[in-house]
Amino acid sequence: MFHKDMPYRRLGSCGIKVSALSLGGWTTYGASVKAEDTVRSIIRAAFEAGVNFFDISDIYEKGEAERAMGKVFAELPRHELVISTKCFWPMSDDVNDQGLSRKHIMESIDKSLKRIGTDYVDIYFCHRPDPNTPIEETARAMDDLVHRGKVLYWGSSEWSGEQIRMAQEICDGRNLYAPVVEQPQLSLVARKKYHNDVAPALADHGLGAVTWSPLASGLLSGKYDDGLPEGARLWRSENLRKSYLTPENMQKVKEFKALADEAGVSRAQLALAWCLAQPQVASVITGATRLEQWQHNLGALKVNLGDELRRRIEALFPADK
Ligand SMILES: NC(=O)c1ccc[n+]([C@@H]2O[C@H](COP(=O)([O-])OP(=O)(O)OC[C@H]3O[C@@H](n4cnc5c(N)ncnc54)[C@H](OP(=O)(O)O)[C@@H]3O)[C@@H](O)[C@H]2O)c1
Repeated sequence: MFHKDMPYRRLGSCGIKVSALSLGGWTTYGASVKAEDTVRSIIRAAFEAGVNFFDISDIYEKGEAERAMGKVFAELPRHELVISTKCFWPMSDDVNDQGLSRKHIMESIDKSLKRIGTDYVDIYFCHRPDPNTPIEETARAMDDLVHRGKVLYWGSSEWSGEQIRMAQEICDGRNLYAPVVEQPQLSLVARKKYHNDVAPALADHGLGAVTWSPLASGLLSGKYDDGLPEGARLWRSENLRKSYLTPENMQKVKEFKALADEAGVSRAQLALAWCLAQPQVASVITGATRLEQWQHNLGALKVNLGDELRRRIEALFPADK
């Protein structure tokens, strides 16, 4: 995959390159967006704009996101795609159908490959740390998957800096394929853990980050300025609404509009451009419910984020959250 307007970045210090903007399927494809034509039109538009990296998880609508996105991937050249999926969250009540045990990893990958309709995934993520499984057991299972060709690279999601460092040390000491990427939350309203804990560990060990919820589930676009638009994500999810729609966030997002206006871009584009400029970030995983959202968000690549604008953005959204 190559598109002249899409930057491609190395995933940390390894050789594979991912598009700076990528597309994920959480709560959307196979869930709030069930129509196959809509899923197809968004994924195809992203691909045509140069996106090569697509992110899924087994838990997204219990396999339905893998199925919905996999159907579209089947129409695209597999070798041009960087497909990731994940395991950890319980897929059933079975005590072993969860976590990062060798058993769950080995069984989950086969189910994911079947649902996606591919022989391998480019990146396999541990969707959270598992306090009930030693990191060495997880690392050995992942190493085996790489040897078997089912997984090309593996990584973590929402691990702490300490866990990231520990995994590297264990893999280095035992000559195992080590994680090359972390998938952390990063947005203007969620930056404390990334900047204070995760990014330094990634830099020390040469890992890349592919970051999630860059618009804080849409909040940073300003769509909630005047209430809850019916059908929008924070209208649909009470949990997300409670965590994001705080009076403090609402106020800041309104003030953020002045900065975006001055720069001649939208808040969504500016929020994405800020994520793209953060250390260790290889790709910012976006979400889109509608084709127009994707097309609009793509404009983030054209934003000129100078030092002064960045300083003012970070003063409005300090790294205390
Ligand atoms: N590793 C993890 O634990 C984890 C967790 C969460 C997400 N992720 C990954 O990260 C990906 C992206 O996360 P996300 O979907 O939360 O990203 P996001 O960019 O924060 O939110 C995307 C949502 O915001 C709304 N939106 C997007 N662009 C908009 C625009 N220009 N104007 C108005 N509304 C807009 C849409 O929702 P509505 O139209 O429905 O309101 C869209 O579905 C996921 O798909 C998944 O692959 C990973």
